Amino acid sequence: MQEIETGRIIIVGAGLGALYAALKLAPRPVLMISPETLGEGASSAWAQGGVAAAMDAADSAEAHAADTVRAGAGTVDAGVADQVTAEARAHILDLTALGTPFDRTADGGYVMSREAAHSYARVVRVRGDQAGAEIMRALIAEVRATPSIQVLEGVLAVALHSEDGSVAAVDVARCDDGLSVPIRLRGAACLLAGGGSGGLYALTTNPPRIRGQVIGMAARAGAVIADAEFVQFHPTAVASGVDPAPLATEALRGEGAVLINRDGDRFMVGLHPDAELAPRDIVARGVYAQTQAGLTPMLDTRAALGVRVLEEFPAVALACAQAGIDPVTQPIPVAAAAHYHMGGIETDADGRATLGGLWVCGEAASTGLHGANRLASNGLLEALVYARRCALDLEAALGPWADAEPVTLPALAADTPPDAALVARLRQAMTDGAGVIRDAAGLTRCLGEIAAIEAAQPACMVLHNMTATATLIAAAALKRTESRGAHFRADYPQTDGAEGARSRMTLTQALAL
Ligand code: SIN
Repeated sequence: MQEIETGRIIIVGAGLGALYAALKLAPRPVLMISPETLGEGASSAWAQGGVAAAMDAADSAEAHAADTVRAGAGTVDAGVADQVTAEARAHILDLTALGTPFDRTADGGYVMSREAAHSYARVVRVRGDQAGAEIMRALIAEVRATPSIQVLEGVLAVALHSEDGSVAAVDVARCDDGLSVPIRLRGAACLLAGGGSGGLYALTTNPPRIRGQVIGMAARAGAVIADAEFVQFHPTAVASGVDPAPLATEALRGEGAVLINRDGDRFMVGLHPDAELAPRDIVARGVYAQTQAGLTPMLDTRAALGVRVLEEFPAVALACAQAGIDPVTQPIPVAAAAHYHMGGIETDADGRATLGGLWVCGEAASTGLHGANRLASNGLLEALVYARRCALDLEAALGPWADAEPVTLPALAADTPPDAALVARLRQAMTDGAGVIRDAAGLTRCLGEIAAIEAAQPACMVLHNMTATATLIAAAALKRTESRGAHFRADYPQTDGAEGARSRMTLTQALAL
């Protein structure tokens, strides 16, 4: 394999964590690896709700931490929740200074959205549902203007290369015009910030390439994966047959939108005292049960928002228009869709993985903040907090640096991409066997199907990164013989105590189950 010494920190990914870390590392030379043009293809840009932060004088970081712990169903690391929520305010001020046009009140405060399981309206927003897109726009402009950051677009990381137990290089392939054979990029260290796993499921709100590749790559290199079984399903993906499914943000329910079925029943009322604003896992199971019963769950914004939905939630309005739905006069058909992976590559307080030379932030990491059920809009917050921590720790670990020349990839021969039919089969297997409701028989079948899919294209690293993460999700779900947060076992519906242990597994252990 051809090799290039980059002399830079290699950042895999191009979402919020990757951009923010690159900026915090400047002027130290970094190389960002992005499969798409910056701003396209990262989940962060699709985040509608915003960033959770106690910005109001009547709110507090302590209350935010308590809500985070409560939503997480007994597996949140309370110390992590305390530290992350305490830092939230500083990051909102930083994003504001970097040019994010958060919605502001007449007296200069922040307009706050209410989302499920928050005891306070605590989510900073941009024009209703534009927070992710606008934060990314501001950071991309800053990254483009920072000379120490080189971005390789149209390039996909396919494997980590370790030497003496430490990550020494990242193998990447061109993916702008079909997949190429890989080339090895050596760097001072590797920071993975390439997102979660939603696209491993047939129904997801995640961008098309977010299919567990980064978690799988780390797992195949030997990193410990934590809480893999905890996959969050969002209850209100717009059910219009589009893949990926557009999101109808939870902030709509915060504004009073209700969930009804085709008979007009407000089905969440009988299921939880907070009805539509119950923790996300409970609402997702409520919606899923309606879908399974053929009762057509729908989000009804008509009475609560009327025409305001068009102006105040432009992304939702656009998704509805593209699906031929008028949310001013019609309820929006919805379904529970894979949305966020609480599990991921286990990291410590500095974002270090269990392999030397490897740091991780964003959805690919499992820091202990989310437990079994992430509190809405804590995802972007976690990415910000750990991107900064990774940058500080990398600075301390690597010491002095020298300028680096820009990296130019040579022309590379074409390689075989993952077989689309196998990927579709994998996504269906995950939805059927490791979805909203699980049991031992379904999970065992799912593991067998994943192994068969992997064997059908034995040399395809991109596919094997996906199957590695899928294996870890299904194996950890099989091992957890209880129901907790987003992990629901029909054959073990009980929760074994208020506090639950986090799961930790290597790929070798998962394959041995
Ligand atoms: C939403 O806007 O409903 C999603 C926010 C999140 O997942 O944090």
